[in-house]
This record gives sequence, C-alpha cells and structure tokens, in this order.
Amino acid sequence: MTRDRARDETRRRFLRLTGRTAAVCLAVPVLHQLGGCGGQTDEAADAAPTTLRIPLAELPDGLRVYRELNGVPVEIRREGDEIIARSLLCTHQGCTVQWQPDVQEYLCPCHEGRFDADGEVIEGMPTRPLPTFPVRREADVVIVES
Ligand code: FES
Repeated sequence: MTRDRARDETRRRFLRLTGRTAAVCLAVPVLHQLGGCGGQTDEAADAAPTTLRIPLAELPDGLRVYRELNGVPVEIRREGDEIIARSLLCTHQGCTVQWQPDVQEYLCPCHEGRFDADGEVIEGMPTRPLPTFPVRREADVVIVES
C-alpha cells in the first residue's frame, strides 16, 4: 500500500467513526427520553427509594456502606455513635466521587475535584462540599431520608 492510499484509508476510517459518533450523539437525547443510555425515566425516578432503612447491625463501626437514595449514590458511614449519610455526587457537574482510603479523601474522576473526609472541597472545580442527608435512628434501624 502506498503512503497516499494508507492516508486515504485512515481518513475514510476517521470519517466513518466520526459519522457514527455524530449519529449516536444525535440519538442520545431521544434515547434518554426513552430511558436508554443509562438515563432515568420519570417512572424509574418515582420507583427510587426516598428513604433508606438499614439495620444497625449492617453498619459496623468505620465501615462504609453504599446505597442509592432517590437516584443519588449515597455513602453511609458509622463512626462510633455518629452516622453520616453523604451524597457521592460531585458538586461541580454531578459525577460520582470515589473514596480513596490511601489518602483519606474523595476524588472525582471527571475533573479531579478532591474533597476531604468531611466532604469539604480541597481542590479543583467544585465550590461546595458534598451534601449530607438527615439520619435518625429508630431502635436498631438507621433511617436516611432524602
Ligand atoms: S464533576 Fe467533579 S470535578 Fe467536575
């Protein structure tokens, strides 16, 4: 294959790929409305729990438990008598942050926003801390409400 033919083939592959990508991008809003592409329909949002009930026995001291509350990924952590339920949605653009045990902070994979163990912004694009949810106890059950 000559150099020109190889360049033409590369250009054709690029145009095929970008054409497909453009078609997908145009279809995404439609798919989102239909509940495709991971989008949440109104029905799915209605079905999402607005209250979590977690037996205290499932929350050992220091353990992080992950649940979804009203469509939001939530981390529930018990530190002695204190129980904290924290949204894991980054306050910049809503990506899901991840706890980094080695450095004791949350990291947002989208734009590398960083939050300390209390959810306060350390660095990056976010300007607000990770929100928390009200937590109460009824006997041996922890209740988290959105
Ligand atoms: S969405 Fe988290 S830093 Fe941008």
